[in-house]
Amino acid sequence: MSQDKPNDQSRMDRIVSLAKRRGFIFQSSEIYGGLNGFWDYGPLGTALKRNLKESWWHDMVAGHDELATPPGAPTPYEMTGLDCTIIMHPQVWKCSGHFDLFHDWLVDCRESKRRYRYDHLQGRWAAHRGKRVFVVTDQSGEEAGPHTVTRAQKFFGLRAKQVEEIEWEGGLVPLATSVAAGAVALAEALGPDAAAPGTLTEPREFNLMFETRIGALAGGDDDRAFLRPETAQGIFMNFKNVLDTSRVSVPFGIAQIGKSFRNEITPRNFTFRSREFEQMEIEFFCRPADSAAWYRYWRDRRWKWYLDLGLTPGKLQLREHGADELSHYSVGTADIEYAFPFLAAGEFGELEGIAHRGDFDLRSHMEGKLVRRDGALVLETGPDGKPRHRGSGKDLSYFDDVTRERFVPHVIEPSAGADRAVLAFLCDAYHEDEVPDEEGKPRSRTVLKLHPRLAPLKAAILPLVKKDGMPEVAVDLYRRLKARMPCMYDEKGSVGRRYARQDEAGTPWCLTVDGQTLADKTVTLRDRDSLAQTRVPIDEIPDLLTGRLR
Ligand code: GAP
Repeated sequence: MSQDKPNDQSRMDRIVSLAKRRGFIFQSSEIYGGLNGFWDYGPLGTALKRNLKESWWHDMVAGHDELATPPGAPTPYEMTGLDCTIIMHPQVWKCSGHFDLFHDWLVDCRESKRRYRYDHLQGRWAAHRGKRVFVVTDQSGEEAGPHTVTRAQKFFGLRAKQVEEIEWEGGLVPLATSVAAGAVALAEALGPDAAAPGTLTEPREFNLMFETRIGALAGGDDDRAFLRPETAQGIFMNFKNVLDTSRVSVPFGIAQIGKSFRNEITPRNFTFRSREFEQMEIEFFCRPADSAAWYRYWRDRRWKWYLDLGLTPGKLQLREHGADELSHYSVGTADIEYAFPFLAAGEFGELEGIAHRGDFDLRSHMEGKLVRRDGALVLETGPDGKPRHRGSGKDLSYFDDVTRERFVPHVIEPSAGADRAVLAFLCDAYHEDEVPDEEGKPRSRTVLKLHPRLAPLKAAILPLVKKDGMPEVAVDLYRRLKARMPCMYDEKGSVGRRYARQDEAGTPWCLTVDGQTLADKTVTLRDRDSLAQTRVPIDEIPDLLTGRLR
């Protein structure tokens, strides 16, 4: 199988199939037909995701040495954590900008009743015997072109061998920009699932926040609340609480891992765009004058984190946003992106954004919702001249005891998606190769080459046969190892099949107890990636593997 072809849908299909088969990821509520955009993690997936989040928490927070200056950091700094609620005061979202601005544009198809994200639609002009239509597709990557061909063939009523007769004008272009430029009218556009042109509605705004109601008397506008679309706002809400109750001083960061919810119009690409997902976010508070240096530090630090955990460097890219791409609050953003197999060759999908948010958030929650005007953040007012959304009126500034200065800290925000990271590590780890079986004949295998820190199980202990005292020795080793790391005991099937099961689960080490073990108290240590088999004294195994995991 091709390992070198960077992007390919069939590879993605095999990864999704492995994820289901081996209990990494299942569709939510599957027995009722599933729910689009919602995913459950199975036994192995839960362990993988937990390991990923624990690695992040350890590397960013718990293991952070606040007395040292890490490479690239302007000074030492402190890190602490929070665990905030999913539902917060509705005013939070008004001042953060999400109430007014957190929307996508959608179009509906009057014929098929399907709904699409306007910015995901692209198309091209096709003509056949005097008939001309703008063929629209909702597919992305390598599937988009062939989809327009199939759609045009059906529209013009052609047989497969007549497809060559279709005349195409230019390549695929985004529908939105073509309509805006006057090059296409929606009346001429053939929707992705429609039989005739002109069925797509005018685009309209759709707020991505999930709404709910609080309390038994729900119904009035005062009960209206939202599921958080990001974990960041809980951190801003508690900025003053953290300052008042812990000894942190600027520069410091507050980290949080938790669920976020977005009512995505078109969830797609497995877990990549889900409606319920987990974020790992840091809000890092610093002096305004130092913020550019801290932005560079966090961008580079977060980039290195993915590489240290084994993502292939050539499949990862760090991309600075252009001015036109910046969010309403951002004065600088970089994305860490991965070449997911479901994307066309050369395309990358966002894993994490590192944003320089300036003082937008703290000031918005003090003063009221801010807007950028002539380069400056000013209070947004309504027609009556009053603030469009009132802030808390609380003082969220910071007083520096040493310099005796008061200022509103600037914020650098590394914001990562736990589910997207799991997906990237799964895709990157997925390999198909050949290994010799017990008779030395080549056997194809599927293996997840996960970093040992991320692997759901660190080791499997396998007695070669279920007799001659081997299971007893293996169970004893299993118990000694289990006290230190997740591992499993497996005596079912041939040893080759047991290795294959562990390769698919991403287990880095297999320990086989055989006849020689009984004689010299050594076991075979098999390395998942190199396939090297070495004999190691059984008593040395716990320390050896613990050391390798460090
Ligand atoms: N607080 C800033 C913020 O939320 P974002 O770029 O909208 O920024 C940060 O989200 C990260 O959250 C993304 O880089 C991505 O990894 C993850 N994420 C966002 N939307 C997602 C979705 N619908 N499904 C899965 N992960 C998502």
